[in-house]
Amino acid sequence: MQNRITELFNIEYPLIQAGMIWNSGWRLASAVANAGGLGLLGAGSMYPEVLREHILKCKKATDKPFGVNVPMLYPDIEKIIDIIIEEDVKIVFTSAGNPKTYTSKLKENGITVVHVVSSVKFALKAQEAGVDAVVAEGFEAGGHNGREETTTFTLIPMVKEQLEIPLIAAGGIATGRGMLAAMVLGAEGVQVGSRFVASEEASSHQAFKQLVVDAKEGDTHLTLKELAPVRMLKNKFFESVMQLYTTNPTKEDLIKHLGRARAKRGMFEGDLEEGELEIGQIAGLIHDIKPAAVIVKDIISEFESAKKEVTNL
Ligand SMILES: Cc1cc2nc3c(=O)[nH]c(=O)nc-3n(C[C@H](O)[C@H](O)[C@H](O)COP(=O)(O)O)c2cc1C
Repeated sequence: MQNRITELFNIEYPLIQAGMIWNSGWRLASAVANAGGLGLLGAGSMYPEVLREHILKCKKATDKPFGVNVPMLYPDIEKIIDIIIEEDVKIVFTSAGNPKTYTSKLKENGITVVHVVSSVKFALKAQEAGVDAVVAEGFEAGGHNGREETTTFTLIPMVKEQLEIPLIAAGGIATGRGMLAAMVLGAEGVQVGSRFVASEEASSHQAFKQLVVDAKEGDTHLTLKELAPVRMLKNKFFESVMQLYTTNPTKEDLIKHLGRARAKRGMFEGDLEEGELEIGQIAGLIHDIKPAAVIVKDIISEFESAKKEVTNL
């Protein structure tokens, strides 16, 4: 398969494994890279020196390209950016912030920059800031998300209508059929998150992975819009947030209730009741925990067979 996305990253398939806090370390990113996709390290849950370690280990585990996802809310972001430059990582996906802030510095250092957005307006701002490609992420997606609730099915064609640089679709894609649908709508590549959580190489807790496999349609919800909207599984912690909303809470009340390290507690330490368990709506279609290479292979072979089926329509 060859298009602007495979050429931009020098990869075999236009399939990107999303950078995900507490899930995507060097094991997952290198497994996806070795399987022909683009693997991303999730810097959002790593201290700067931990990120350096993951970069070094990833380089040992693969000679294929890989990248780093940098959520710009990160407190130590300057150090993270410096380490990426020092360690000569060539691909960065930025998210949750203004693409103008770091794009020129990264590009001056020969780095390919992609920015994640959830609306047409911000896709165009990212293009203006000089990024090489945009990830447009719909309402279905796991983790932090936009406030507009625009679904992937509507967001992709609307962004495509106006964007000139390559477009990568994210949110609700876990299969080859999903990938094909996104590409028919105008994407040139897909970013897959939730499906890779249920992989053997994801660094999250086994109990969380199993809960993702057990999840059914309707088991996730997007909440905490006043802070940073996030889609999570409806567990005891989620119910306590819903309870708090009945009292008309202030932003400070929500921050206090969220406390520190909820996501780590849930996804990494496996506290399924009190932790924040980030996952997308497509969890209802994820039925097993597999090696990342098998996930890539299955998605690509289903993509190819679905493409043939469609020609018969
Ligand atoms: C557990 C989890 C953690 C995530 N962490 C991040 C993150 O650190 N940075 C980021 O840009 N996006 C993050 N996301 C969003 C993904 O990068 C991706 O865009 C999204 O998962 C795509 O939708 P899907 O889950 O339906 O595949 C996360 C998603 C999940 C499920």
